[in-house]
Amino acid sequence: MFSISRKLRREAKSVGFVPTMGALHEGHISLVREARASCDVVIVSIFVNPSQFNDPGDLERYPRDLTADAAILAAHEVDYIFAPEQSEIYPEGFSTFVTVAGLSDRLEGESRPGHFRGVATVVTILLNTIRADRAYFGQKDAQQVAVIKRLVLDLGFETEVVVLPTVREESGLALSSRNALLSDEQRKAAVVIINGLREAKLAFKKGERNAAALTEIVKRVIGAEPLASLEYVAVVDRDSLQPVEKVGDDEVLIAAAVHFGSIRLIDNVILNRKQ
Ligand code: PAF
Repeated sequence: MFSISRKLRREAKSVGFVPTMGALHEGHISLVREARASCDVVIVSIFVNPSQFNDPGDLERYPRDLTADAAILAAHEVDYIFAPEQSEIYPEGFSTFVTVAGLSDRLEGESRPGHFRGVATVVTILLNTIRADRAYFGQKDAQQVAVIKRLVLDLGFETEVVVLPTVREESGLALSSRNALLSDEQRKAAVVIINGLREAKLAFKKGERNAAALTEIVKRVIGAEPLASLEYVAVVDRDSLQPVEKVGDDEVLIAAAVHFGSIRLIDNVILNRKQ
């Protein structure tokens, strides 16, 4: 990968990079499409990164199908798939980790300690290996986006971070590789996440600015679904992820994490006065 990316730079090709952990779905494909439309060369990485899993069961269960993923990417005219072995990313004696302080500890970080250290570390390695002009991420992982934007700024990567909207099923459920692990019943029930978030967004549009009132709406909707167990819902600044009491002019997120049995799903909506 190092020599390919060096060659692409020599040829002055613009490179679009889509980092993934495989189990590709339409959400990933929307990133690939955008990269394909705006770059000469598209590179997709597939690497189930062990250092971002704090639960070994979650890592073991994570869906993997490199053959199916490669076929999907070929159909979307991806130029290179980078699917490294674990030992290539983490060579023997690996001991350098990247921590984006502050942003990594809240929300997801509270229940998944070390998760964003793992994400920041692998993304640093991937960005440094591929040196893309643009790297594409989905808004569904809003905290990951905030962490990576900070990392790119702080470490001086020249790669532009491009964030694309969450892709949803017709029901509204955000696409996620973890959806494949839900039973049919759980999958139907999981729609409560976006229903709750959308109801809160509607209240915001009608003038509700109080964060506590907005989170109460989400809690009520999700609480009414017996298969759902809400872990958190929070109204936070989109970039700093600091809690907001009253929504003002800056964009904020309402973000939630919900369990359906052993499967944990996250989603968010953006509140913006101009929307
Ligand atoms: O969003 C993901 O799939 C992963 O967190 C990423 C960015 C590929 C890093 O492993």
